[in-house]
Amino acid sequence: MSHENLADESALEFSRVFDFSGKVIVVTGAASGIGKAIAELFSERGARLALIDKSPHIQSVAGALGGDARSWEADITEDAQVARVVGEIAATFGRIDVLINNAGVGGIWPAEATRSEDWNRVVSINLTGQYFVAREVAKYMLEAGRGRIVMMASQAALIGLDGHAAYAASKAGLLGMLRSMAVEWGPRGMTVNAISPTVVDTEMTAIYWGGEKGERARAEIPVGRFVKPREIAYAAMLLSSDAAAMINGANLPVDGGNTIR
Ligand SMILES: NC(=O)c1ccc[n+]([C@@H]2O[C@H](COP(=O)([O-])OP(=O)(O)OC[C@H]3O[C@@H](n4cnc5c(N)ncnc54)[C@H](O)[C@@H]3O)[C@@H](O)[C@H]2O)c1
Repeated sequence: MSHENLADESALEFSRVFDFSGKVIVVTGAASGIGKAIAELFSERGARLALIDKSPHIQSVAGALGGDARSWEADITEDAQVARVVGEIAATFGRIDVLINNAGVGGIWPAEATRSEDWNRVVSINLTGQYFVAREVAKYMLEAGRGRIVMMASQAALIGLDGHAAYAASKAGLLGMLRSMAVEWGPRGMTVNAISPTVVDTEMTAIYWGGEKGERARAEIPVGRFVKPREIAYAAMLLSSDAAAMINGANLPVDGGNTIR
C-alpha cells in the first residue's frame, strides 16, 4: 500500500495493517539464526517467501516453510549475482513488498591487530553486500511506488564493545546509509529502517556466550537476558507492516535496554 492510501483511516484497522497474506518478503541470510526465525514468522502469517543465502542449506529451509517459498543460493557481496537473483525473484513472484536485509557475519579482533582481510570481509558482507541487495530491490519497489526495507544492524553500532572495530564500523555504516536512503526513497512510497539487537540466543552465540562470561553479560542487560530470534522477528514484522508507515530512517534497538546506559 502506498503512503497516500495509508492516509485513509480505514486502511489503519488492526487486521489490515498486520495482514501479510500474499505479500512477497525477501529475507537474506535466512539459512540460520535470526533470518530463519524471520522467514518462519512471515510464512506463518501467509506471506510468500524469497530466501537468499550463500549456504546450500537455504534450500531445505525454504522446503520446510512449504507453500511457494523459494530459495536462491547467492553471495551478497557479488553485485552481478545479487542483480540476477533479485531480477529472478521479481519475475517469479511479480512483486517485492519487503526486504529484510539480514545476512551478516561477526568477528572479534583487537583493534590494533585486525587483519586487513578480516576487516574487508566484514565490511564487504555487512555493509557493501547489504547495499547491493537494497539497491537492487529498491529498483522494483520504486517502480511499484511502495516497499519496506529493514536492515539488521547491532547494538555494536551504538555502544563501544571491545574487539568490535570492524563489526561496529560495518553496522554503524548501515545506519548512516539507511538515513540517506530514507530521505531519498521516503517520498516515493518506501520506508527504510534498522533493528539493533543485543546478543541473540542462537546456537552460535550459545557457544561464544556460555559459562560465566555469558552470565555476566546477561546480568548487565537491564531485563537480565539475551533476546530470542523470535523477538527480533516481531520487530522486523512491525517495521515491515503498514502500521509503521510513519517510521522511516529509524533504528530500533531490541536490547532489553542495554544501549541506553
Ligand atoms: N546473533 C547475534 O547475537 C546478533 C546480534 C546483533 C546483530 N546480529 C546480526 O543479525 C544478522 C543475522 O545473524 P545470526 O546471528 O542469525 O547469524 P547466522 O550466522 O546464524 O546467520 C547469518 C546468515 O547469513 C549468511 N551469510 C553470511 N555471509 C553471506 C553472504 N556473503 N551472502 C549471503 N549470505 C551470507 C550465512 O550463511 C548465514 O546463514 C547478522 O547481520 C548479524 O550481524 C546478530
